[in-house]
Formats: sequence, C-alpha cells, structure tokens
Amino acid sequence: MPVSIGVLRESAEGETRVALTPPVVATLVRDGLSVTVEKGAGERAGFTDAEYKDAGATLATRKATLTSQVVVAVGRPDAAATKALKEGQALLGLVEGLEVSGVHVLSLERLPRQISRAQTMDALSSQASIAGYRAAIVAATAYGRYFPMMVTAAGTAKPASVLVLGAGVAGLQAIATARRLGARVSGYDVRPAAREEVTSLGASFLATTVSAVGEGGYARELTQEESAQQRAELSAAIAGFDIVITTAKVPGRKPPELVDSDTVAAMRRGSVIVDLAAGPLGGNVAGVGIDTWDLTTNGVMLIAAGDLPQQMAPAASDAYARNIAAVIAAIVSEGELAIDPTDEVVGALLGAPAAAKEEVPA
Ligand code: NAI
Repeated sequence: MPVSIGVLRESAEGETRVALTPPVVATLVRDGLSVTVEKGAGERAGFTDAEYKDAGATLATRKATLTSQVVVAVGRPDAAATKALKEGQALLGLVEGLEVSGVHVLSLERLPRQISRAQTMDALSSQASIAGYRAAIVAATAYGRYFPMMVTAAGTAKPASVLVLGAGVAGLQAIATARRLGARVSGYDVRPAAREEVTSLGASFLATTVSAVGEGGYARELTQEESAQQRAELSAAIAGFDIVITTAKVPGRKPPELVDSDTVAAMRRGSVIVDLAAGPLGGNVAGVGIDTWDLTTNGVMLIAAGDLPQQMAPAASDAYARNIAAVIAAIVSEGELAIDPTDEVVGALLGAPAAAKEEVPA
C-alpha cells in the first residue's frame, strides 16, 4: 500500500491557503504516494477540485481525508478534525503547541532553519518572504504619492522614504521590494548582523544603541529599560519617514511595541504604517487592530497586516506546498512511512529533545 497523504480544507476563518497544490500533488503521485484532497480544499487559493483530480489525487469528504497516514494542513485543524485522528497517524503543518495523543504532530514552526537540509522545508521563511513583498505593495497602494522619483513636464516628485523595522526574512523582502519600486529605504533591527544584510540591498541602516541577540541567532526579548530606550531613539527618526513597515517578532512572545502613539501622532499627514506583526497578541505599533485599515486623527493610515500571505494565497500555497513535499520526502523511506525522532530535523519538528544531547555519555 502506498503511503497516503490527506490534504485538509483549512478550518480557520480568513485562511485562504491550501497545504498542497495540484503540481506538487502530481510529483508526489509520480513518486508513488497516494493523495486524497478534501473537496474544495484549494478553492480559496484558486485551485479547483478538477485540477487536483487531473494531478492524480482522489477527492473525498473531510472524514475520509482524515484517515490518511499523513494529514497535511496550513494552520491548526478544528477540534473535531484533530479528535478524528487515530494513533500512528501524522499531522503536518504550522500547528505549534498542538498535542494529539498517539499522533505524530510535526510543527513547521519548530524547524531547525539553520540546517541547510531543512531550508527547502522552511515554511516560516517562505511565508514571511511573501508577507514582506506584499507589505511594500500594500504601502505603495495606500500612499497617495509616488514611491520613485518622477520627473515629468508637470514637475518633479521626490521619492518616498521608507523605514522597515525588523530586518528578518519579511523585512529584507520588504526592503528589496520598496527599493525596486524606487523608494529611498532604511532598515533597522536589534540584531547587529542585520546591518550588513540591509546595506547589501542598497538601503541605509538606522542605528540605535540597543542590540540584542538571543538563542539561535534570533532577537531576544528586550528588558523594559532597553525597550524604552529603543522606542525613544526610533521615535525621533520615524516622524521623518513617509512609510513605516514593521515586521519585528520574538518567537513565541508578544510582538515588541516599537512605535508608540505619540510617535504615530508626530508623523506627517498622508504617511502610512504597515504592521506585519499585528495579530491577536497586538503588534509593533500602539493601538493597531487586526486586519484593519485605520486613519488616525492626524491623517496617518495604520494598516494591520498580519494576514499578507493569505492575501496572496496562490503564491503562498505554491511555496508552502513545496515545503510540505520536502518534509514528506524526509518521513517516507522506500515507500513506507518512517518517522525517525532521532533525525535532527524530524525530531525537532516533533518537538523531541535533540538526539545528540540524549547521547552525550555521563
Ligand atoms: P522573526 O519573524 O521572528 O522576526 C523578524 C525580525 O524582527 C527579526 O530580524 C528580529 O531580529 C527582529 N526583531 C525582534 N525584536 C525586535 C526589536 N525589539 N526591534 C527590532 N527588531 C526586532 O524573524 P525571521 O525573519 O523568522 O528570522 C530572523 C532570524 O532567523 C534571522 O537571524 C535570520 O537570518 C534567521 N534565519 C535563518 C535562516 C537560515 O539559517 N536558513 C532561515 C530563516 C531565518
């Protein structure tokens, strides 16, 4: 019996992506796997049931899809779905924190991203990159003036000035995209290593006296004093920019507040802020909503943009599906499901302590 893969229709409201796309299904089927797709799973990402069928998948009910050996999803499936899973099945997706008794829960958030073999599986990066690109486009759309310098018979328009706060995967892509649109761009991050990455994209680096590197090269949470110091230093610079894109996150924590309400109030009328960190835990900007566009009393458009990958569901699903296929390749061996918790990538996805640590002799 070939290993069976089941693609769920996403249950979260506002989730438009799908875990596997028809072209990726076709390669899995060619590799000898059987793929079942819940009817309508790809609809919101622009993929029809007929395309999945042509790719070699079987279209089925949710109940039947949930009996597959490996169930794949983007976000957490609803409680009824996880309850239907049985011992020995695997669930793969951005499902951090989910525990289902007897089920191998593989959370893509736990991927050891620095290991080169894991890079094709890196869904956080593939989705952050899309968010960063889209953030620059959203900002350009909301802004009432040009991004590039425009020299016309009717006069010259000066380029927009863009500041990107947080220069990780999303921030760097936002910087690159805003540069391609012709804006004058600056970037900022608490990790000193980000300076070189920002300047290599042709942007300026905005420096503060606060720096913080935590585990695995990620930023650590700042102390209250550091945070206040950072806000004070950034605040002076922010008012001079037309566009501010914020992308700062600390894994598993509430996003740091980088822009307070006084700073927003000091910005020029017509300025735009796009907050990629905005979500149920808050965002990088004081008072930001969830998926809303709010015009402040001083005429600044504050955009809560935590859902940008969902706004580009076809591209986001293409990339995510390739990440999923790479994980599937790592858990299927010679036509059998072979989830090896001692493998450093698979073990990390399962949340197991690193194999190497267990083997250290006393
Ligand atoms: P993220 O989405 O968790 O955070 C975005 C950015 O916000 C990060 O650059 C972080 O340093 C920054 N940040 C956090 N707190 C901040 C604060 N108070 N002020 C200003 N900036 C703040 O990060 P992402 O994009 O998922 O990854 C960032 C790190 O992971 C980088 O070191 C990146 O190079 C590394 N990475 C490495 C990979 C690899 O080795 N293949 C793959 C992906 C990421």
